[in-house]
Amino acid sequence: MRAFEFVSPETETTDEVVVAASEATPATVDEVESGRPGFAGIIGRHRSMQAVFDIVRRVAGTNATVLVTGESGTGKELVAQAIHERSRRRLQRLVPVHCGAIPEDLLESEMFGHERGAFTGAICSRVGRFRLADGGTIFLDEIGDMSPKLQVKLLRVLENGMFEPVGGITTQCVDVRIVAATNRNLEEAVADRRFREDLYYRLRVVPVEMPPLRERREDIPLLVEWFLGHLHSAKGLPRFEITDDALGILTAYHWPGNVRELKNLLEQLVVLGDTERVIRAEHLPPQLRGGGRLSATGGWTTPPWDFDQQGIDFYREMASIEDRIIARALHISRGNKKEAARLLNLNRTTLLEKLKRKREVANVLTTQPDWAALNPLVVPPSVETSEDLRLPS
Ligand SMILES: Nc1ncnc2c1ncn2[C@@H]1O[C@H](COP(=O)(O)OP(=O)(O)O)[C@@H](O)[C@H]1O
Ligand SMILES: [Mg+2]
Repeated sequence: MRAFEFVSPETETTDEVVVAASEATPATVDEVESGRPGFAGIIGRHRSMQAVFDIVRRVAGTNATVLVTGESGTGKELVAQAIHERSRRRLQRLVPVHCGAIPEDLLESEMFGHERGAFTGAICSRVGRFRLADGGTIFLDEIGDMSPKLQVKLLRVLENGMFEPVGGITTQCVDVRIVAATNRNLEEAVADRRFREDLYYRLRVVPVEMPPLRERREDIPLLVEWFLGHLHSAKGLPRFEITDDALGILTAYHWPGNVRELKNLLEQLVVLGDTERVIRAEHLPPQLRGGGRLSATGGWTTPPWDFDQQGIDFYREMASIEDRIIARALHISRGNKKEAARLLNLNRTTLLEKLKRKREVANVLTTQPDWAALNPLVVPPSVETSEDLRLPS
């Protein structure tokens, strides 16, 4: 019986999402060539990823500086690799520098090298990453963390390829393509004068914005399938399958750590999995099972205001909230509508009117709505029985 529209929209939507990824998006030429669903090792078919691939394709053959922005784990470093590998520089090195992880003084010598005796402990001279990347690409990760002093030095390299090693007097010149990345809002940093405006514009000649995973949920089944295959073929781990329920939960989760979090979780599940070699809903960590609107169990497990880029159906959600509140009041009042109206601080006639409308909408004038299908916000143990929640006539 279909009592009310809202009763289990989650279950239906989950199915749609799963199907969308496998059927709606055809494989691209790159995929067919590489045998991988995506581009240059970056898995994804969502249109936001297609836009990323398109930029990578266009920019790879040039020397343009690229600024990749996006939350942690969205694949910024993969984009740098893709650009490098598709450029004529691929015969030389791609050198990463993780600017956030290294203290300022060390970072300077890391990037530009130092002369012998430049500072305490500099017992011999050292070649910096820019020199190592000569003819190739340098990947400056977490560029937003770079100190003002180094920002000046970097600006100069960007402008004419020149720099001096720490403690050195001779100027060195390199031919390096720069790809920078940040998970910070650099515009804000510029406004707060923490990041140089001239450097910002010099870096973002070609901006690439990586979408968070929750904004391309259709790609989640694809990524899951890819990683499960990859863990087997590349890491020699057993080949695991996943149930539709578990996949539904993964698709619904909001993934604050993005693809990295998904990848690590799957590896953990496979490594710790049992001999059955199937990932089931109950194997997933509680925070995944408890959160997400598209819960595979059909439960309404996050509040309706906790929605994301996918958006919601406003009227349906509002009706759903109203239904739950009324159901609760009728439960407490044991079906006494006058008492239920008092509990809700509503006129009795207002409540009666609402109940009448709901019956009409649900077209259940002759049958009983399935109130039991109203899962409480925070998942059971449910005390209600369908008997208690029966809509009084
Ligand atoms: N679209 C994707 N396809 C396949 N693997 C991905 C994708 N995005 C990220 N990863 C994987 O997730 C991890 C984090 O990616 P990374 O590029 O380091 O992210 P970021 O630099 O944005 O933090 C890496 O192991 C990477 O291989
Ligand atoms: Mg990174």
